Amino acid sequence: MSLFEVEGWGLDKKVAKTAVFSSAKQEKKKAKKDAHKKLKSNNNDNKKRSLDDINDDDDDDKIEEQPLEPKKTQKDSKPKQQEKKQPQQKQKEQKQQQQQQQLIPTSTKLTPLQQKMMAKLSGSRFRWINEQLYTIKSQEALNLIKDQPELFDEYHKGFRSQVQSWPENPVDIFVSQIRIRGTTRNVNAPGGLPGIGPDKKVVIADMGCGEAQLAYDVEKFLKSVKNGGHGNNNNNKRQKFNSNARYGKNLKIDVHSFDLKKVNNKITVADIKNVPLPDESCTIVIFCLALMGTNFLDFIKEAYRLIAPRGELWIAEIKSRLSDEKGDEFINVLKKMGFFHKFTDDSNKMFTRFEFFKPPTEILEERKLKEDSRTKFIEDEKEIEKLEKKREVKPEGEWLLKPCIYKRR
Ligand SMILES: C[S@@+](CC[C@H](N)C(=O)[O-])C[C@H]1O[C@@H](n2cnc3c(N)ncnc32)[C@H](O)[C@@H]1O
Repeated sequence: MSLFEVEGWGLDKKVAKTAVFSSAKQEKKKAKKDAHKKLKSNNNDNKKRSLDDINDDDDDDKIEEQPLEPKKTQKDSKPKQQEKKQPQQKQKEQKQQQQQQQLIPTSTKLTPLQQKMMAKLSGSRFRWINEQLYTIKSQEALNLIKDQPELFDEYHKGFRSQVQSWPENPVDIFVSQIRIRGTTRNVNAPGGLPGIGPDKKVVIADMGCGEAQLAYDVEKFLKSVKNGGHGNNNNNKRQKFNSNARYGKNLKIDVHSFDLKKVNNKITVADIKNVPLPDESCTIVIFCLALMGTNFLDFIKEAYRLIAPRGELWIAEIKSRLSDEKGDEFINVLKKMGFFHKFTDDSNKMFTRFEFFKPPTEILEERKLKEDSRTKFIEDEKEIEKLEKKREVKPEGEWLLKPCIYKRR
């Protein structure tokens, strides 16, 4: 099952071959060369590995999932960091690049064939960056983007184009949940959103927010609801519901958005295993397709630290990453880490959505004291120890959620 499709990859091979007749071969070669050069000049010399990949499989047009062994180190995948170039050599290369850039036509001047080649190249770049993020530890991902911030933009360009082709975007579903629960129930009432403090503020942490779409959409929703609407001004496939402006009027929502690059003012740069927010300061923590590093259970621990008692953990993950169909193993591990499972929604073809909550303190204490008896409690402790030992031997990115890797067919 292909989950990410990159422009140009879906092109039928036969169609491509008949369309590009032999006399056009030279043009194709030239276009490829130009596109190659342009991408290179845009993205600096550190992309050699992926450009070589592109040359190897240039004629294949489709992608498919490929289980991949996560990398133990980032050495092979971080050419720029490795190569400590002499300043003179660096200057020379920069000059050459500038000269090249002046010679290369801008994308508006590219022929259709060149444009097609460019699309292929950026598709392969997307695939490569995606692979990195799934197969390295979160700290390495933070360093990678810090060193080469342009990788983030390339990744999101590709990601945006994929999501547009999906029947549903999980971010929209989360926003729709916020809207429905926020306008049909009081905060903290059964079925309502969870809030904290005297003004019952709903505090959301969007972990791995990408371009902070959720924060922008929630802002729009709040504005609309304050103006007497119900916040559903989008005509896409969002759920219909009966709203009551009475509930939404006093709704206070803060969204904290975290990711590896600050592409806009809503975003705070942080590794989501350790974000700058106090303990129990959030009422909802969201991971929307963001459990990417091989150590993603550290993100879940961080979520537990952030969430106030009775607060919620919302997760959407690519279906094919789950080690079993229903995600039972994943749910069991999160339960061991202290969360209660609320529900699983696997109605979407591409991703599964999970909701957990952090139990109220009384329940946690009761649980400890309760009949489950001392032996049972000790058993639970042992389970957590076992989990930690297992993680030391093999990171969870290798067994609990598989990396989402794509290769061309
Ligand atoms: C597949 S994208 C999803 C983006 C957004 N949640 C959405 O659904 O549109 C995953 C995001 O997680 C971010 N990410 C991965 N590992 C991260 C980490 N350790 N710390 C912060 N962000 C991370 C990536 O940079 C990327 O923007």
